[in-house]
Amino acid sequence: MTDHPATIDPRDAVLGRSRVTDTPELEAFYDDLARRNAGAFWKRANAIEPWEPETRYRPTLWRYADMRAMCLRAIDLVKPEEAGRRVVTLLNDSDAGRANVAVCGWLFSGMQAMRPGEITPAHKHTASAHRFIMEGKGAYTVVDGHPITLGANDYVLTPNGCWHDHGVTADGEVSIWQDGLDIPLMNCLETNFYAVYEQPAQTAAFPSNDLPLSYGGAGLRPEGVGAWDKPYSPVMVYRWDAVRDALWNLAKVSGGTPFDGHMMRYANPLTGGWALQTMGAHMQMLPGGFRGQAHRHTGNVVYNVAGGRGYSIIGGKRFDWQTHDIFCVPAWTWHEHVNLDLNEEAFLFSFNDFPVMEALGVRIEEPYSDHGGHQPA
Ligand SMILES: [Fe+2]
Ligand SMILES: [Fe+2]
Repeated sequence: MTDHPATIDPRDAVLGRSRVTDTPELEAFYDDLARRNAGAFWKRANAIEPWEPETRYRPTLWRYADMRAMCLRAIDLVKPEEAGRRVVTLLNDSDAGRANVAVCGWLFSGMQAMRPGEITPAHKHTASAHRFIMEGKGAYTVVDGHPITLGANDYVLTPNGCWHDHGVTADGEVSIWQDGLDIPLMNCLETNFYAVYEQPAQTAAFPSNDLPLSYGGAGLRPEGVGAWDKPYSPVMVYRWDAVRDALWNLAKVSGGTPFDGHMMRYANPLTGGWALQTMGAHMQMLPGGFRGQAHRHTGNVVYNVAGGRGYSIIGGKRFDWQTHDIFCVPAWTWHEHVNLDLNEEAFLFSFNDFPVMEALGVRIEEPYSDHGGHQPA
């Protein structure tokens, strides 16, 4: 945030914007205001009310091959019961990212690897969390007593305030997943609480996978099951096979969107809304040879390549990606996606802060209209 610049931006030289030319008398007035914990609004108004959103975050990409190796090194260096959560944090390549421990905007993300037989001790927090599984076998989580098994490309919820612990069964394999949380948002709002459970792990209070098995049938709602009164999706885990099949089916009857190809929201089936209150998520399928058009919107998006290879042009810069690379698109930044494979689909998982934007009435989107809808890279 800069003070009123010495020269006025030509766009600000209009009635309605701050265009005061400072004088020695004004400088003295500013000093006197500062001594009273006050200031002249016109000195900073243009900076704190830009004409359009000015993100402090940069598009950033993390290669899976590289970050996977770092996760495996963490396994050798520290035990999960000592680390609490043995997570390699993804920090946006910006001062704001490093200061706020943010992957992009008010979102946090990390990568977590666990060996067979290891557990992450049970805890809960105000921040909402979800996990996207990248590889492994035998991974599970227990959320408020509900045990959930996890496979590659599954998306699982850990809603705010729920007790949760994770682990990999003794007969499983090293498992790696991506965590997404809204820790920076909760800290920004100064609402962050944290608690550890009385035991290292919860005792299962329900049959394994009871919630996805009850509520996970597309278009079906179970009768004779206690009414669901929680503000998040009862499905809890969205299985890769079902999500991929749904996208294939959608593609049989739809051309998809010009920006995102075929796209499915991980929805709360009882409301049609987002699965969590503060973070949304999608899986999108880019058909072979897909070249998307550019658009931009408020809200931040973090992608995990569920399969395939291609590139995205973000803010005019090209980022090539392949399976399980992670990258982000900061708020109000132009972006477009390309599938480099002509015959195979590419799948992009992503999570976002759109539910917050919607709740606050500031979810705004704009297509890129120049150059046939494509940014000059
Ligand atoms: Fe947690
Ligand atoms: Fe987008």
